[in-house]
Amino acid sequence: MNNNFDDALTKVSLHILKFVKNNKIIALGSGHASATFAETLSMFVRKNRIKIKAVPTSSQIKMVVEKNNYIQLIESDNLDEVDIMFDGADQIDKEKNLVKGGGGALLMENILMNMSKNIIIIADESKFVNKINIDIPIEIHKSARSYIMKKLIGINGKPTLRTNNKRYPIITENGNMIIDCGFGIIEKPQILLNKMINIPGVLEVGIFKRKPDMIYKANLDGSFNIL
Ligand code: A5P
Repeated sequence: MNNNFDDALTKVSLHILKFVKNNKIIALGSGHASATFAETLSMFVRKNRIKIKAVPTSSQIKMVVEKNNYIQLIESDNLDEVDIMFDGADQIDKEKNLVKGGGGALLMENILMNMSKNIIIIADESKFVNKINIDIPIEIHKSARSYIMKKLIGINGKPTLRTNNKRYPIITENGNMIIDCGFGIIEKPQILLNKMINIPGVLEVGIFKRKPDMIYKANLDGSFNIL
């Protein structure tokens, strides 16, 4: 990641601390932007001695918070609502549709996004497009791998099973596999989402139904915009 983007991500993180209030429950997304925010949040909590609880969406972000050890971490299973979620994105179109799951955390991210009263997205400017055109991550049950591949080809997708550099399948923290599926330029993301989520064995799709309340764009020149 370019250092100027990092500067802008840090500026955004400092700016959005104003949304963090005492005694609130906060969901933390995964990835680089979320990690920058989590680091900034940890320092803020330490300095201001405020009390918040944070629900992590992956071990990646959990470990960022654990390293600083100023924020109480909790699990989502006994919660039915979260006050606010801060997350990154892999791509964002003009209609504020999000593509998520580049790091494989899409299932927890979508659960927590839907549990959250407010959603704030932080992303560098390379993520913003008119229309979605990157491969869509899809978390699948391994028993349905070939069936889902065939169904995705049937809706004009080009599916690839996500593997590591030794070609072993990547297994998510939920014990599932991930398919990355290309569709070229996606004209109607929500319709495509509905087609994919209805395939038996598909557990989560990286196009999210819920749209964010606010989006912060971190620019290469170190500045940021609020969308
Ligand atoms: C994790 O699975 C993703 O949804 C991330 O939120 C997304 O990949 C953004 O990550 P970066 O901030 O690292 O680009």
